Amino acid sequence: MRSTLTIQGEDGRAASPTPECSSPAETPEFRADLVAGLTRQPKRVPSKYFYDRRGSLLFDQICETPEYYVTRCELEIMETYAGEMAAALGESVLLVEYGSGSSIKTRLLLDELNAPAGYVPVDVSREHLHASCVRLRREHPNIEVAPVCADFTQPFALPRPARPVDHAAVYFPGSTIGNFTRAEADQLVRQIAHLCGRQGGLLLGVDLKKDPQIIELAYNDEAGVTAEFNRNLLHRANRELGADFDVSSFAHLAEYNRGQGRIESYLVSQREQRVSIGSNEFHFAAGEALGTEYSHKYDRADIEQLAAAGGMALRKIWTDSRGYFAVVHMVHDD
Ligand code: AVJ
Repeated sequence: MRSTLTIQGEDGRAASPTPECSSPAETPEFRADLVAGLTRQPKRVPSKYFYDRRGSLLFDQICETPEYYVTRCELEIMETYAGEMAAALGESVLLVEYGSGSSIKTRLLLDELNAPAGYVPVDVSREHLHASCVRLRREHPNIEVAPVCADFTQPFALPRPARPVDHAAVYFPGSTIGNFTRAEADQLVRQIAHLCGRQGGLLLGVDLKKDPQIIELAYNDEAGVTAEFNRNLLHRANRELGADFDVSSFAHLAEYNRGQGRIESYLVSQREQRVSIGSNEFHFAAGEALGTEYSHKYDRADIEQLAAAGGMALRKIWTDSRGYFAVVHMVHDD
């Protein structure tokens, strides 16, 4: 059945209809990607599958652990510099957020924008989009909210708000770009430059390279929340796909790879075992690892390179007081 999520614009018009979305109950993509990932050598599964309801709750809990500095640092930056960022984004901007925009960071930025043309949250989850739209419209009644239900790694069109748009800018917070390989990140920034056009911009949250010990602790919290988050992938496969992972026989491993500048997370089989997903059977050797996540860290040179890959000019890097995290602004100005 086709259903469309429409949010009324300021003038009572419906904002643009949204493309179809997969509902949480539909899991053919998860099944196909997991089966393909377990067939590969070394075994690897996309990290986007962490985020079912329980996974999202566990991630929220990670953000509360003393070791995971990422979220607090980004919030500090937004609390300190949202005004400067809004000024840099300029007047009559159409702000396009990659993600559902339910966070306090988004509200801090929206509060400071000068006569924005509109706000466009882009998310694959219809549920998340709907919840955040309801909230945003209540808290920012003067900003037209025009959601797009889409996978932002795939091409999509921008909705046309009622107010004139001077230029568009993508806001991509949370260091989610860290989950992309460097080549995928380059590709995404190219797509963003294309989507936003001339004078378009990108405001991006990235985690910075730092003492690897600090980074490793952030992904190996004492309370074991990150381990549970990692293993949730297997719980999810058991729940949704009828897989038979013996979850407790997989150990959480997160280590910093200096050469690649990233945290690599794995689930390591503690014994030799077989796992089945429907009619597919997989073998794990004792000590064999399933790769579940990359979290890439950037330095100034990496950020410059990312901007250049997208044909964008780096305008500004804001950091927190410890220099752990950065929000960067780049503009498509040629
Ligand atoms: C939500 C992708 C930014 O990579 O730091 C947290 C996810 N994984 N702890 C990150 C995560 C393990 C997080 N991002």
